[in-house]
Amino acid sequence: MHSVLITIPMFDAVIERLRSHFEVETCGERAIETPDELAARLQGKAGMLVAGTPRVDAALLQACPDLRAVCSMAVGFNNIDLAACTARGVLFSNAPDVLTETTADFGFALMMATARRISESEHFLRAGQWTQWRYDLFAGADVHGATLGVLGMGRIGQAIARRGALGFGMPVLYHNRSRLDGAIETQLGARWVDKATLLRECDHLVIVVPYSAASHHLVGAADLALMKPTATLTNIARGGVVDDAALAQALRDRRIAAAGLDVFEGEPAVHPQLLSVRNVVLTPHIASASLPTRRAMAELAADNLIAALGRGPQAGRPPTALNPQVLAAR
Ligand code: GLV
Repeated sequence: MHSVLITIPMFDAVIERLRSHFEVETCGERAIETPDELAARLQGKAGMLVAGTPRVDAALLQACPDLRAVCSMAVGFNNIDLAACTARGVLFSNAPDVLTETTADFGFALMMATARRISESEHFLRAGQWTQWRYDLFAGADVHGATLGVLGMGRIGQAIARRGALGFGMPVLYHNRSRLDGAIETQLGARWVDKATLLRECDHLVIVVPYSAASHHLVGAADLALMKPTATLTNIARGGVVDDAALAQALRDRRIAAAGLDVFEGEPAVHPQLLSVRNVVLTPHIASASLPTRRAMAELAADNLIAALGRGPQAGRPPTALNPQVLAAR
């Protein structure tokens, strides 16, 4: 029987399902994050179930010669060196699709909370500072009818665009390396523009682009300077896509009106200046965190692990493998 390691706290039911196929080692309540601990705990393991944080690279794979499958319950996989996995014959799978609508709900909610200053006004109320009605008390920006800018138009970007266009009558601009099919653009009412035009013209920018070397600091000081002073920026993509220091400065200087951030450079640490400005809504990387969706993500990762190690009804055919060719070569 293969042994597998679950590196993150996990639903009991998913652990039990994996136990019907494998010897399962869990991490308890504390995720295994450091490369040394990961390498030590992976000795003799054929598979691991992870999420989006620990780095899986050539050095780790070399230190863990028994490893055959790495299955993540996240959709983003910038922490995984896919080429190194393929070179060593290690299957890698992520968890796309199951989180698209939930993550889009959250992106839209964070954008609305940012535009309408919901966190800032709640803090004011809780601090006992609410003494009178005023015409301008926490007056923010409208969402309905405002121009939505989507940076990164993959599955989640499209789901956000759909919410804006159909639910809130928002004209939608987007920028992506590749343009959408014309029929999808028409259906979403979305228009492709270059990045500078997107930044200049949108009222609410939502960033949903995957992190890679090419998207590192895709939005920095010069980009923020192009935005309207009334605009908002929402990042549900990955820390590092936005230059957090530049953003904190732009928020402090009111170069833009407000930001909503679910992801941070170096998280769970947060840039100290972001913690001290008021016009930012901060959440701890929870965009996909509805209970049914988190369960679906975990089950999908388990499906992949079971199939990758030759078990279950999909044996040899993990449903969302990114390098399935390694199985053919076994
Ligand atoms: C979350 O950030 C994910 O990539 O699933």
